[in-house]
Amino acid sequence: MLRVSVLVSGGGTNLQAIIDAVENGSLAGVKIVSVISNNRNAFALERAGKHQIPAILLSPGDFPDREQYADALISSLKETETELVVLAGFLVVIPPRVIEAFPNRIINIHPSLIPSFCGKGCYGLKVHEMALARGVKVTGATVHFVDAGTDTGPIILQKAVEVLPDDTPEILQRRVMEEAEWKLLPEAIGLIAAGRVEVVSGKAVIRKS
Ligand code: GAR
Repeated sequence: MLRVSVLVSGGGTNLQAIIDAVENGSLAGVKIVSVISNNRNAFALERAGKHQIPAILLSPGDFPDREQYADALISSLKETETELVVLAGFLVVIPPRVIEAFPNRIINIHPSLIPSFCGKGCYGLKVHEMALARGVKVTGATVHFVDAGTDTGPIILQKAVEVLPDDTPEILQRRVMEEAEWKLLPEAIGLIAAGRVEVVSGKAVIRKS
């Protein structure tokens, strides 16, 4: 059983996709051991509660400095014996010590085809605003391992989504979630749970089952 903690900041629709996949049996071999949020008003915390998953509030602002916040995050993840950390709309930069404590054991979902529309300050709806402003005809989502950079870690899975002429950022965001994010994130977790993902020379390699 792969023990997974999901880190969230907002609505938690990606968290919901993982919960649904675990509950309907399509994501076998996975247990969600905690949901951690930096935001006490995150609806994602309610989603966790509804499914009897421990919901934990850890906000950087509640700690004297980033080091103590990092300690608290690491302690929480170790207490729950977390093996894989999933960033599902988590808008806090992960402290370097946490990344060191979980090498190639933290994954993130980003709502574009990396390396387009990613990096510092590029998250959530902004990503879709930038894609529309640039006039791309195809966008999508990416699941990648988290390294010390912003959206720079090894890419595990990507899925393309068409941009349509009348799209607003909100409409595009919804399509990218429905067609890509909610499928890709559970799929990536399943591949990791099955031991099929390896990082070789800085690239994620998916072995055939
Ligand atoms: C998702 O679109 C996710 O890809 C994005 O935030 C949204 C969270 O939605 N993450 C980033 O932009 C990270 N750079 P959710 O709370 O409904 O899952």
